Amino acid sequence: MNQTFAKDLIEGLSSKNKHLSSKYFYDDTGSKIFQEIMEMPEYYLTSSEFEILSLQAKQIIDAVNFNQPFNIVELGAGDGMKTFKLLEYLVNHNIDFYYVPIDISQGAMNSLVDKLKAKLPTLNIHPRVGDYFEVLSKENVQTTIPSLLLFLGSNIGNYGNDEAVKLLSLFNKNMKDGDKLLLGVDLQKNPITIKNAYDDPYGITKRFNLNLLTRINDEFEGDFRLDDFDFYCHYNPENGEVNSYLISLRKQSVFLKKLNQEFHFNYDELIWTELSKKYNLNEINQLAQTTNFTVEQHFLDCKHYFTNIILKK
Ligand code: AVJ
Repeated sequence: MNQTFAKDLIEGLSSKNKHLSSKYFYDDTGSKIFQEIMEMPEYYLTSSEFEILSLQAKQIIDAVNFNQPFNIVELGAGDGMKTFKLLEYLVNHNIDFYYVPIDISQGAMNSLVDKLKAKLPTLNIHPRVGDYFEVLSKENVQTTIPSLLLFLGSNIGNYGNDEAVKLLSLFNKNMKDGDKLLLGVDLQKNPITIKNAYDDPYGITKRFNLNLLTRINDEFEGDFRLDDFDFYCHYNPENGEVNSYLISLRKQSVFLKKLNQEFHFNYDELIWTELSKKYNLNEINQLAQTTNFTVEQHFLDCKHYFTNIILKK
């Protein structure tokens, strides 16, 4: 049994405002459902970032400007091949680098490695499976050469301000002077566009959230009945936050056998599952400044929906 997950579950489901962390979405099934989300046209984040990394790969690599072999360390690589166009550019230009993808899901990693080996047979790839906090602090990833860290896909959006500061400070602490971080950030835009990306008409995001309950049932011998929960999400354009929830459709109890513990849910009670924060440029600069990074350059897509920023330590 995963002790941290157990502890977080008990804390989250016993608290007055129930919550579960979105980091637990990504078991092998959840990673697959997230793939489906990324394929929805409404989920513009994927195509916006893909456009940036495809059309501006040369500009990004020129701006990173490491004139020697270097590491590309991708935090939360998933199996989405977000980075493919960037890697392809580097391989095709015979640039000497090691690609170190880190992801929590072994299934996602296997699939990523298989796809990359097939498409870019000469790529130097050194995958690591685990929580990127742990891998980052333990792993000495070729410390003699510079590293470009990648934290893409607006994963930073899952963190509240204090946590985002902590996370970027942790990245900073684990970087050498001159190392760089390419950060993918979803920008504030027409709220209808943002709402449609999360409140999707196919029910995929709902399935993604409900899978968390399936995962708990599987890992803790729980008896969550998925039909007794619904999904709700809301975008607030005043603070750039999408917040997602599961709703208990009945007054009910759920027993988790492995924890020997029962949890009570009221009629219409919410479980907060995710924050997906959308930034404006001021907030990004502020965040970079507080965490001792220098903003080197923004790369935006043509619609200005998304930015990939080079931050220098
Ligand atoms: C992977 C965290 C960037 O918040 O947009 C997609 C996850 N949640 N749809 C996001 C997600 C609902 C996604 N991130």
